Amino acid sequence: MSSAPARDHASLQQAAKRNLWLHFTRHSGFADADIPMIVRGEGQYVFDQHGKRYLDGLSGLFVSQIGHGRADVAEAGARQGAELAYFPLWSYAHPRAVELAERLAAYAPGDLNRVFFTTSGSEAVESAWKLAKQYFRLTGEPSRYKVLSRYIAYHGTTHGALAITGLPDIKMPFEPLPAGGVRVPNTNFYRAPAFVADDVVAFGAWAADEIERAILREGPESVAAIYLEPVQNSGGCFPPPPGYFQRVREICDEYGVLLVSDEVICAFGRLGHIFGCERYGYTPDIITFAKGVTSGYAPMGGMMVSDRLMEPYLRDTHSFLHGVTFAGHPVSCAVALANLDVFEKEDLLGNVRANEGAFRATLERLSDLPIVGDVRGDGYFYGIEMVKDKATRETFDDDESERLLRGFLSHALFDAGLVCRADDRGDPVIQLSPPLTCTQEHFDEMEQILRSVLTQAWQRL
Ligand SMILES: Cc1ncc(COP(=O)(O)O)c(C=O)c1O
Repeated sequence: MSSAPARDHASLQQAAKRNLWLHFTRHSGFADADIPMIVRGEGQYVFDQHGKRYLDGLSGLFVSQIGHGRADVAEAGARQGAELAYFPLWSYAHPRAVELAERLAAYAPGDLNRVFFTTSGSEAVESAWKLAKQYFRLTGEPSRYKVLSRYIAYHGTTHGALAITGLPDIKMPFEPLPAGGVRVPNTNFYRAPAFVADDVVAFGAWAADEIERAILREGPESVAAIYLEPVQNSGGCFPPPPGYFQRVREICDEYGVLLVSDEVICAFGRLGHIFGCERYGYTPDIITFAKGVTSGYAPMGGMMVSDRLMEPYLRDTHSFLHGVTFAGHPVSCAVALANLDVFEKEDLLGNVRANEGAFRATLERLSDLPIVGDVRGDGYFYGIEMVKDKATRETFDDDESERLLRGFLSHALFDAGLVCRADDRGDPVIQLSPPLTCTQEHFDEMEQILRSVLTQAWQRL
């Protein structure tokens, strides 16, 4: 423990406002207000500098699967730091990276046996694109470079990952982005086109067939990969319709396109399985992961790759011409192993599977509110879509959305003691992704806070 005296609140705020640059944040909003400052975490809760408690309904940022304040996991990192704090995976291995790769390969479906570590989700997404491009060069199909992904899907912010992200507003200031990003429909059944709006299976078949049409339009010989999340986050948790991924797999096989399951959010228990693809019964060619692999006790990302994709890289003088200094950091690997130990010892997957029905049912109670249009998701991952008119599903215009989300809901939910996300990158939604240790008492607390704040929001409209 540091012996330095605790810093007083006012001077910390001052320094935060003067020196710290927050991500995706309007700093002008803090001209006359404090920046929220979280100082401590314990289990499902975090605490601010005044000691006020908040239920962490978003696991920080879809990260803290095992919850906060686990000294055993933190200590695993500290022990590793003392033993070997750093050595690169460039030409060398170290035991924790090997053990973690072996363990992840044992969890992964099919022949996904090879792990390439990164330090973040964006790097994982971008690495998978580079791997695919170089793979096709090595296997005699050098014209394949394009990547398909879904409208309003978020796949990260570095230039390559941003080219795959399907959110025009966050791409625009950085155009031109790397060429080759192509959009296909997402699986938002609540907003399905009229001709499939009554039949979720037909909707899923249509959305998957649109992928085939996009591949044919672009020219199959130019398409390298498609990136899909098991449950799409951005837009508010779109689960896949039954049969969707099976049809996508068929299409990818037919046209030689690699299926990348972007599981930066959906892996490590979020959907009750180590990997989200298991829940929906498909085997991708690559899984990208980050966040929950360490539950945030250290940063880490990576990709699981099939033996088939590794094969050309094992031949002759070839190597994957890509790497980052801190990938597979020994401390992060040790923490990830300790995190996975917690998953096993405390049966967190079992907890999610046993309680997800209760979580859904508790959130669905909110459907009696006039502002709640749709409650959707799977596992411990839910989106609540807000509407102006339930009968017509009319959404809010930009101005209303701005007043509702930024002007009121985001602050009001936090002030009421709930960390969650009010987002309008698609239609306005509130997103929940709590620690996997949550049980009914936490679901009830979320529901009560949401009920009270959403009722006030409706009254203000
Ligand atoms: C599906 C998905 N892919 C990629 C990313 C980017 O991850 P990171 O923020 O670690 O770069 C995210 C981040 O939320 C994500 O949700």
